[in-house]
Amino acid sequence: MDKSREKQGIRLQKYLAQAGVSSRRKAEESIQAGRVKINGRVVTELGVRVTSEDKVEFDGQKVHQTEHLVYILLYKPAGVMTTTDDPQGRRTVMDLIEKRSARVYPVGRLDYDTSGLLLLTNDGQLANWLMHPRSGVTKYYEAVVQGRVSQEDILLLSQGVELDGIKTAPAIVKLLGTDGTTSRVLLILHEGRNRQVRRMLELIGHSCLDLTRTKYGPLTLRGLRPGQWRFLYEDEVSALQERHELPIRIKRVRSHRRR
Ligand code: URA
Repeated sequence: MDKSREKQGIRLQKYLAQAGVSSRRKAEESIQAGRVKINGRVVTELGVRVTSEDKVEFDGQKVHQTEHLVYILLYKPAGVMTTTDDPQGRRTVMDLIEKRSARVYPVGRLDYDTSGLLLLTNDGQLANWLMHPRSGVTKYYEAVVQGRVSQEDILLLSQGVELDGIKTAPAIVKLLGTDGTTSRVLLILHEGRNRQVRRMLELIGHSCLDLTRTKYGPLTLRGLRPGQWRFLYEDEVSALQERHELPIRIKRVRSHRRR
């Protein structure tokens, strides 16, 4: 790679992430696996920079830098996979949103049986940051669990319980109600560990019957029913970006102005 190119452009993994191909970390793996070409030549180094003059291919397909950043808020129903492609042919969140001109990707994951708020975007920079543990984005979950949850259970959950040998971070946990057979619990978390809410509840002896994510950072499900989606409003995109101290973008954003 010539020296002048190394000084300009952006790093290949960032270019791929911004184009919505995958997260930056996954893009690094793909580069090292030889799946990426620049101007017809396979590149396996991570430091290489590309400019708009370069032709970048991923698995033989030309990668287009995204002009429109697209942000979609989906009310994921239960019984749908959070993935772009399910090898077992189950329904995915992509089946629920109309074919978009830009490819969007889910930001994080909700389990197959979990419903609620899922953000999808082709803004790789924002998505990667929101999924990073340091972003600490606030997530609200409402769970219906088996049995009567006690105040001691609530205290335990809010102080943190051990999952895979690591204590969960302090959380806000509230008992919303119980009829003696089942209870309704609100959990406000800043973490996003695998099946975290279900495992936390299981650990204190209350298996989860139903789980919904009702809030993600500044975003809520207001106005949507399960299976429905909408573009984010401009002020919601700004709130996500500002809250996370990302540089203000000059690119055109596909979002809606509030009326
Ligand atoms: N916690 C879970 O257990 N499942 C989800 O889908 C999200 C958070």
